[in-house]
Amino acid sequence: MKRITLLALLIFSSQAAFSDAKTEIKYRQSVMGVVGGHMQAMGTILKGQVHMDDLEFHAKGMANVSSIVPKTFPEGSGKGKTEALPEIWEDKAEFKAAMDKLVAAAEGMASASGSGDMAVIGPAIKALGGSCKGCHDNFKEE
Ligand code: HEC
Repeated sequence: MKRITLLALLIFSSQAAFSDAKTEIKYRQSVMGVVGGHMQAMGTILKGQVHMDDLEFHAKGMANVSSIVPKTFPEGSGKGKTEALPEIWEDKAEFKAAMDKLVAAAEGMASASGSGDMAVIGPAIKALGGSCKGCHDNFKEE
């Protein structure tokens, strides 16, 4: 029994070493999927004026998930089945600025979302959408 456990552990750890980039990419894409989901939900709410009372939930979720996005681009995770461009790890300052914009815009939207005032929410969601485009245009494959 003990030997089997040890063997399983060995296999697991050697696989983990080899599939590191693959796992990081998968995790990044999953996190971005959450970002995309909240964005799509908010777009649907605002466009259709439905479930307005859920807007704050999604805005806060977006602010939450945005705060871990910077951790999903570790060095060495640019090779594989990814749409992340090499510029991410080359133009670090520029990429960080694009990341900071997302975090700031998501926080802005989180505080605007509870206002119920489209004059406040409108510009906040626009800034948030702009932060996605700002990064995707430069750092994500089409
Ligand atoms: C700082 C850069 C950056 C910002 C800001 C950013 N993204 Fe991304 N996004 C990326 C990169 C790079 C990828 C490709 C990831 C990969 O394939 O490894 C990606 C991928 C995605 C994907 C595809 C995920 C998948 O399943 O592969 C979606 C959806 C997405 N982003 C939505 C958004 C939305 C919505 C926003 C704004 C609220 C946003 N992103 C902001 C860089 C960014």
